[in-house]
Amino acid sequence: MVEACEGSAPGEVAVKASVFVGTSLDGFIARANGDLDFLPPGGGEPHGYDEFMATVDALVIGRKTFETALSFDPWPYGAKPVFVLSTRPLVAAPREAVVERMSGAPAEIVSQLTARGVRHAYVDGGSTIQQFLQAGLIQRLIITRVPVLIGDGIPLFGALRRDIALRHVATRAHSSGLVQSEYVVVANQVDG
Ligand SMILES: NC(=O)c1ccc[n+]([C@@H]2O[C@H](COP(=O)([O-])OP(=O)(O)OC[C@H]3O[C@@H](n4cnc5c(N)ncnc54)[C@H](OP(=O)(O)O)[C@@H]3O)[C@@H](O)[C@H]2O)c1
Repeated sequence: MVEACEGSAPGEVAVKASVFVGTSLDGFIARANGDLDFLPPGGGEPHGYDEFMATVDALVIGRKTFETALSFDPWPYGAKPVFVLSTRPLVAAPREAVVERMSGAPAEIVSQLTARGVRHAYVDGGSTIQQFLQAGLIQRLIITRVPVLIGDGIPLFGALRRDIALRHVATRAHSSGLVQSEYVVVANQVDG
């Protein structure tokens, strides 16, 4: 579904941005050293990732998430355009990867994506998700919790200047113990 978002020019449909992420029950997306060993191998029981990816026409990921993706074989994003946020040149990606560096405030990134015709972006990486949420530029969150506590690590969420109200859409419990909750961000919460 394409949704017109506040801030787009007349006649222009702004980018819808979604998060699809796996966390420990205590809310970490990776260990402090970036290790993902607490997540089930290969993503575990199917929980909608492929179906979600089919709706996405580009990814916006932080440089650290990009470097994790580079360690996967094969390249995990196929031929989808991947916009990597970084303030410095990127290390080389595999030949099949479609990668471009971008830098700037989330609103500037979204403007560039809109101009490029992106309609649904998958935003990934802890600090990247936090910035886009803070800027009011995430519309949907799909969070899959893994039944483990790891105590410390890279958090999915962080400090906020003000509350972000969410509407719960659904929670799906999987037999392996994965619990996936989907939320939409309540509109009109753009931070200055
Ligand atoms: N569990 C999961 O589903 C999941 C999903 C994604 C990632 N992860 C893990 O999470 C970890 C990475 O998360 P993270 O929070 O540490 O980092 P991240 O968000 O992936 O990357 C942060 C980096 O992105 C760049 N960046 C972010 N916003 C920018 C902007 N507006 N303009 C320019 N550059 C920008 C900066 O790179 P520079 O320093 O180069 O400027 C920054 O240091 C990795 O271990 C990854 O494997 C887990």
